[in-house]
Amino acid sequence: MAFRWKNDLTHADVTPEAAFLNRRQIIAGMAAGSILGVGGKAQAQEALEPNAFEDITNYCNYYEFGTGKSDPPKYAGQLTTDPWSVKIDGLVDRPGDYGFDQIMEAMTVEERIYRFRCVEAWSMVVPWNGFELADLLQMAGVQSGAKYVAFETAYRPEEMPGLAYPVLDWPYVEGLRLDEALHPLTMIATGIYGRTIPNQNGAPLRLVVPWKYGFKSIKSIVRITLTEDEPPTSWNKANAREYGFYSNVNPNVDHPRWSQATERRIGGGLFSRRQPTLMFNGYEEEVASLYAGMDLAENF
Ligand code: MTE
Repeated sequence: MAFRWKNDLTHADVTPEAAFLNRRQIIAGMAAGSILGVGGKAQAQEALEPNAFEDITNYCNYYEFGTGKSDPPKYAGQLTTDPWSVKIDGLVDRPGDYGFDQIMEAMTVEERIYRFRCVEAWSMVVPWNGFELADLLQMAGVQSGAKYVAFETAYRPEEMPGLAYPVLDWPYVEGLRLDEALHPLTMIATGIYGRTIPNQNGAPLRLVVPWKYGFKSIKSIVRITLTEDEPPTSWNKANAREYGFYSNVNPNVDHPRWSQATERRIGGGLFSRRQPTLMFNGYEEEVASLYAGMDLAENF
């Protein structure tokens, strides 16, 4: 199927792959720099926020393989990604288990370069390979009563050592409103940087919603359910005050513990300047209409 959206970013904008893979060390380095007083005032202030730093180094990853800095790259290789199937059920015409090969045969995989913004105020530009989620949902036939889409990650205690720790209510779950899920920007990624997606980044199938914070990008999806009611999401269950259902990138709505108004792009140099965060992560023109009339401070 042809893509229905035109990219505004090019390979010149892409975060170097090494920076993408080593972002935790780079972010730790940036924080260390501010502790040593190398950075400006904003960085010095950041160093005084231990919570924020803890979140920076711990959040954006794959908790099923542990919350430690080096856990996901160390353990994610254990995940069996072949064979793989996704159960699509709920309000669909053709519920069932869709095999990875069956899905890939029906989809046209293409590259999209998207801004990727984490809730902890750093960002990247990532080349994803994948297909539109809408095309996958179409395979199963969305029924008219469906209003939301629920996603679930694999739950395999024998392969995922992090499941032994109740940091989240397992399995990891996420959700989108149906119109968000059907939006042409919303994709299922099967690769990054022109290669098959590494296990630690969510092989073999992970969600990418570029106008939302990174934690909405649920990894290693095994189930997609079309529902009438808003589905639960892992981070909202863990801390409803800090993480809402929508999680749209919004410089005007702060996280309760820090501002979301600026971001630092990884790969732009160790002490690269902060830049203003763009509404909907720069996809305002494409997605603002989805939220017309909604109070985004309330629906964060
Ligand atoms: N999906 C699962 N199943 N488990 C996780 O811990 N972490 C989320 C999201 N998807 C996570 C997940 C968070 S917090 C972020 S920021 C992104 O994955 C990070 O994706 P990346 O490591 O590919 O950049």
